[in-house]
Amino acid sequence: MAGEALIPVYRRAPVALVRGEGVHLWDDQGRHYWDFISGIGVNSLGHQHPRVRAAILASLELLHTSNLYRNLPQEQLAARLSELTGGMLAFFANSGTEANEAAIKLARRWGREQGRTTIVSFLGGFHGRTLGSLAATGEAPYREPFEPLPPGFRHVPYDDLKALEAALAAEPVAAVLVEAIQGEAGVVVPSPGFLRQVAELTHRAGALLMVDEVQTGMGRTGAWFAYQHEAVQPDVITLAKGLGGGLPVGAMLARPEVAQTLRPGDHGSTFGGNLMAMRVGLAVVDWLQEEGLAHVRAMEPHMAQALRQLVARHPDRVEGVRGRGLMWGLVLREPSAPFASRALELGLLINAAGGRVLRFLPPLVVDEAAIAAMAEILDQVLAQ
Ligand SMILES: Cc1ncc(COP(=O)(O)O)c(C=O)c1O
Repeated sequence: MAGEALIPVYRRAPVALVRGEGVHLWDDQGRHYWDFISGIGVNSLGHQHPRVRAAILASLELLHTSNLYRNLPQEQLAARLSELTGGMLAFFANSGTEANEAAIKLARRWGREQGRTTIVSFLGGFHGRTLGSLAATGEAPYREPFEPLPPGFRHVPYDDLKALEAALAAEPVAAVLVEAIQGEAGVVVPSPGFLRQVAELTHRAGALLMVDEVQTGMGRTGAWFAYQHEAVQPDVITLAKGLGGGLPVGAMLARPEVAQTLRPGDHGSTFGGNLMAMRVGLAVVDWLQEEGLAHVRAMEPHMAQALRQLVARHPDRVEGVRGRGLMWGLVLREPSAPFASRALELGLLINAAGGRVLRFLPPLVVDEAAIAAMAEILDQVLAQ
């Protein structure tokens, strides 16, 4: 078995993918796969998109300079993200975990003067695996082996406004960290109006609203950011995954009044905001602006309809479907992992999330033909 020199923190499928193009992937045996997971929501423009290739090739002149000097692509990407978020300022990191870690540090720095240190987040939520972001993550199996975690974190049930209200009343809270749709929990979509109410309660309590858009951001749900569906104004948002189009990147954006509590030396990253990741990030933003967002909105009904037809055809196996844009979950009546494995054998990449859910995060360039091919394979998988 290959890979015995690796520390075994992943349960990897026995497939080695070696080439990709658009929504297509091939393994080292020449077998073809439809990509409906995009590296867990990362390859937003699919594989080998001309814009991403051009950005990477343009970066070969100069790969790295650190954050000791001005970085023009970083300044440009920050300006673009600022335009999209009503004037937020950006800090760039290399992953979603790091983006959230930066947000937690910012909340603590901001809250110190007012005696606010507690961060409230939600059960079922996933924010990363560094000790800070893990402390914000609600699920015991991720947390328990690594306790004691940093103090000052509280978790309340998702979609439960009464519980949030009680937590906000119990002590001075620095920030509420929330996903607009919980991705790792199995594409859990809260009740309409939930995020708006969270924003209202959080701001009324004088705390910061921090929306983790690592999975839902950058067009995934058909808006630039999922919070925009409910017209709320967060104080902080975190991004990663699709922003890098395949390169490692993370970003924390914050309203200037909040962001400016961080001073030179308070935070940093050697690789954060590196030239190549920033150039590809700009290519992703350009594509979304020029055609991508409209394309995601156009594809949404096709995804929804294909999955709803599967629910109708396999009511014994499938309980329902939930999602938005190009982020979907098919809720099964039994554990979903064996179904994801069978789909892989038949040439479809999806993954199992939240125990009984099959998760779909196709590249945002997905088209109707690929959606039809996905539905055909899944029909076979569910029939077995
Ligand atoms: C909502 C959310 N936040 C944070 C993370 C962590 O991101 P990363 O794996 O890039 O550190 C993830 C990863 O799945 C996520 O879905």
